[in-house]
Amino acid sequence: MSIRWRLFISHTTMLIVTLVLFLISALLIPVAITGDIRSIKDLYTRQYALKPLTKPEENVFLDVKYLAKKQPNQLLNQTMLKQYDQKLDSVTSGLIVRKGDKIVHSSKILNSIKDEKKLPPFEPENIKVRDTISIDHQFFLYVKFDFYFPNQEKGSVIIMREVSPFVELSRSLFPLIFGLLFLSLILVNGLLSYFVSKSIIKPLFSLKNATEQMGEGNLNVKIEYDRQDEIGQLNHAFDKMRTKLKESIKLQLQYEESRKELISNISHDLKTPITAIKGYIEGIQDGVAESQGKTERYLSTIKRKATDMDQLIDDLFLFSKLDLKKMPFSFEDIEIIRYIINFVEEIGFDLEEKDIKIFVKNRTENEVRVIADRDKLRRVLSNIINNSIKHMKKAEKQIEIYIQGKGDFVEIEVRDNGSGIEQESLPYIFERFYRVDTSRNKSTGGSGLGLAIAKQIITEHGGDIWVESKLGIGTSIFFTLKKTI
Ligand SMILES: Nc1ncnc2c1ncn2[C@@H]1O[C@H](COP(=O)(O)OP(=O)(O)OP(=O)(O)O)[C@@H](O)[C@H]1O
Ligand SMILES: [Mg+2]
Repeated sequence: MSIRWRLFISHTTMLIVTLVLFLISALLIPVAITGDIRSIKDLYTRQYALKPLTKPEENVFLDVKYLAKKQPNQLLNQTMLKQYDQKLDSVTSGLIVRKGDKIVHSSKILNSIKDEKKLPPFEPENIKVRDTISIDHQFFLYVKFDFYFPNQEKGSVIIMREVSPFVELSRSLFPLIFGLLFLSLILVNGLLSYFVSKSIIKPLFSLKNATEQMGEGNLNVKIEYDRQDEIGQLNHAFDKMRTKLKESIKLQLQYEESRKELISNISHDLKTPITAIKGYIEGIQDGVAESQGKTERYLSTIKRKATDMDQLIDDLFLFSKLDLKKMPFSFEDIEIIRYIINFVEEIGFDLEEKDIKIFVKNRTENEVRVIADRDKLRRVLSNIINNSIKHMKKAEKQIEIYIQGKGDFVEIEVRDNGSGIEQESLPYIFERFYRVDTSRNKSTGGSGLGLAIAKQIITEHGGDIWVESKLGIGTSIFFTLKKTI
């Protein structure tokens, strides 16, 4: 069953139930108040019984009552009775005079009452003077006075007015009321269903269309969600899902692209030394290297190339393990200043050989403890310093390491006075295989994995790594490590 039909049925049921409950309570309220089931019928009759007489009725009634007591025979005087009729006519009431079992006078307005027996009975005590009475499905409100004529015949004067009790009225109006109710039911239902379905079904349809379009691969279908209700929330969630999906597909494509690039880079970096090695071996085999010295040179070149390849494969292996998060880390509490000083002392000899001065400058307390993996941190420092060494062209060669506290972190800056890096390249130097010198010149660059590995390691430590550099002046690589709490 469609939602539209469900809504229509639920609205109809609601309206019918309300209607029925309304009717039941209308009937039960008098019972609840009086505690008597007959009160339902009485409610309406009593209401009339309590109604006061109109002024002309009151006057005529006082007159005829007076006559009945003093001169009852005057009540047979038709000319006088006609005058009363006229007075009562103005308020649609009438006068009946009964003598014995006969109606001796009846106003025109009460002509329909022919049968004397249907009138209120004779009651000499005159207790029930005012009441209502039903005669042939007509309801009358009356006021009556009973007396005796001089000949001891029973006499009554009755002033009567026809009234429409609720039951009578509703019986005659029932088809109309029912028709109107039914019509308003259909109208209200139609309107309710229209507005509700407009606010629910329409957005559902647009959501369905959007889903279909997404199913066909169009992830650019924008769904409006400016509404604050549940539909708005649904649309918002849907749109969020769409953007996430779009992002993940984009990321997937990027991964795919970089995977292809990775394979091509690896192939290139492996192919070059292998081709060279092959060339040298062929040279030796073909006897190009006749002299012992040349053969030695060829062999040492082959060895260097093989070592480079070995290094590249090691780097690649380390990088991919870090990338896949398969590299185990053994974090320790390290005193970082001592650690760096030790590291500098270790590499000091190599640097001295290359005529490079290195300094450690501590700008924080004498002791700072961090959480780090000793071996991996060593790798980070040597990757950074190797770059500095490679790009050092000036006569005065210098590397400075600054250590300073930054809140919960320690910031380490490795600053060189080397060639510097052009601004356009700065955002990319931490990307794998990225090298500023794209010619892949062996003298200045390696595989382009050094800083990518450093970044992976520092990220795994919960720190950050970045670069500042000025072409011709020097480069600073910064990284942070979390202090031990
Ligand atoms: N201190 C520096 N001075 C000048 N250029 C630098 C410096 N550090 C990095 N670079 C530039 O950033 C590039 C990326 O460095 P990265 O260490 O990732 O790769 P690489 O040194 O070329 O290769 P690898 O480190 O794998 O042997 C380098 O090729 C170099 O051009
Ligand atoms: Mg490097």
